[in-house]
Amino acid sequence: MTKLEKIEILILDDEKEFTEELFEFLQKSGYQPFETNTYPEAKHVLENHEIDLLILDVRLPGIDGLDILKEVKVLYPNLEVVIISAHGDMDTVIKAMRLGAFDYLRKPFRHIDIQIVIERTKKYLHLQRKLKLVEERNSLISKTLEEKIDRHFIGVSRKIRDIFDSAMAAAQYPDANVLITGESGTGKENVARIIHYSSSRKDHLFCAVNSSAITDSLLESEFFGHKKGSFTGAIADKMGFFEVSNHGTLFLDEIADMPMNLQAKILRAAEEKVITRVGDTNTVRTDFRIISSTNHDIEKRVEENKFRLDLLHRLNTVHIHIPPLRERPEDIKPLLIHFTSYFAQKLNRPIAINEDVYKKLEKYAFPGNIRELRNMTERAIILCKFNSLSIEDFPLISKNSAASEASPDMVKLKSLEADMVRRALLQSKFNQKAAADILGITRDALIRKMKKYNISIGKAEN
Ligand SMILES: Nc1ncnc2c1ncn2[C@@H]1O[C@H](COP(=O)(O)OP(=O)(O)OP(=O)(O)O)[C@@H](O)[C@H]1O
Ligand SMILES: [Mg+2]
Repeated sequence: MTKLEKIEILILDDEKEFTEELFEFLQKSGYQPFETNTYPEAKHVLENHEIDLLILDVRLPGIDGLDILKEVKVLYPNLEVVIISAHGDMDTVIKAMRLGAFDYLRKPFRHIDIQIVIERTKKYLHLQRKLKLVEERNSLISKTLEEKIDRHFIGVSRKIRDIFDSAMAAAQYPDANVLITGESGTGKENVARIIHYSSSRKDHLFCAVNSSAITDSLLESEFFGHKKGSFTGAIADKMGFFEVSNHGTLFLDEIADMPMNLQAKILRAAEEKVITRVGDTNTVRTDFRIISSTNHDIEKRVEENKFRLDLLHRLNTVHIHIPPLRERPEDIKPLLIHFTSYFAQKLNRPIAINEDVYKKLEKYAFPGNIRELRNMTERAIILCKFNSLSIEDFPLISKNSAASEASPDMVKLKSLEADMVRRALLQSKFNQKAAADILGITRDALIRKMKKYNISIGKAEN
């Protein structure tokens, strides 16, 4: 980090006059330059110094500059390369950018041009190094666990750390059922996976089931399995979710949507740990833990007689509630940094983040929670025109001045959320699926919010 105070720059160009002049200018400007005219010379410098930036002429006699680029990017992954190309050599520029060059300069260039490029590289290098540190600090789980859950778990707030502690405690009791509640996109499935892969069941299946996505007629055989010939289409014996989850975890996503008749059967299976396949008379013993999740008010469902109280009691031995992102705004910055670094790497686009982005996002209500933040960051990186994200790359927020001025009291947040829903509907020309995508929530969640705020399509422009 401190070394970046004086950025070390290596120049490789066969024109001696050019390298001498550039060397002098860079030195005067307060950088630490090295000047070389052949690749062997450059290699020598790279081996003996921690170079931050290589300014590379891609047209060197006897060797293809793109091959040099490829080689140094492998040997020195932290090194950034800016290439110098000749006028009209766009083809090479494109190839070089694909190979990971940071930027290019077209000869002849002015001193100010190179200075802008260097400053940009410097900012990026700063960010990269900071990101590495931040990422290590703000990830609540180890790299190994990240790989196992196939996701990340980022956060700094007291609330998210308490959730992590509860998840770890639940992992210690592999027979206790866990209910995870929270709004859409808050990370319920993440927590379920963390519990499973931290428990003694980790070497067995994590069977994720979204019961609202299975047709009613198939639900029973999907859960309990069936015997060959027990109904049309049952062409072979089949294990159901309870059986395949033997020794593992059955994750029941969106539990509140489970039909009543199935709820009774699930309760019995959960209590007895013995099931019977459809069309069979034999019983099968199976050992599973149920982690269930919902973004509905499940107690209200019980009051409305849509969810069995006895099943709720069976499922919520441990209850973990994940608060919405707007109630833990301190997690927004580390999450934004994490998603930016994740997508920047994935899309091979080096990106920094302007300070104003954090400030504005921290005041935004995030109806779609972390999923929304993730989606908007990906979109911003794809669409952004420069090498750093500014608030304009987050159109939903930058256009909504109310969002940036809102204080986090609930009344304002609610009106803000309603406003967001209206705007998304307007923006999508009232296409509910498209509006839900903009908000980063499901279409069902959008419809619920429209009901909650009494927004009908005709009223959306009010
Ligand atoms: N703490 C976190 N750190 C990093 N990414 C997260 C975190 N929490 C959630 N995510 C990401 O946000 C997205 C939504 O998370 P997840 O699917 O777990 O939410 P959910 O609560 O199950 O949503 P839904 O109610 O819509 O099913 C995923 O891409 C997930 O990887
Ligand atoms: Mg989910």
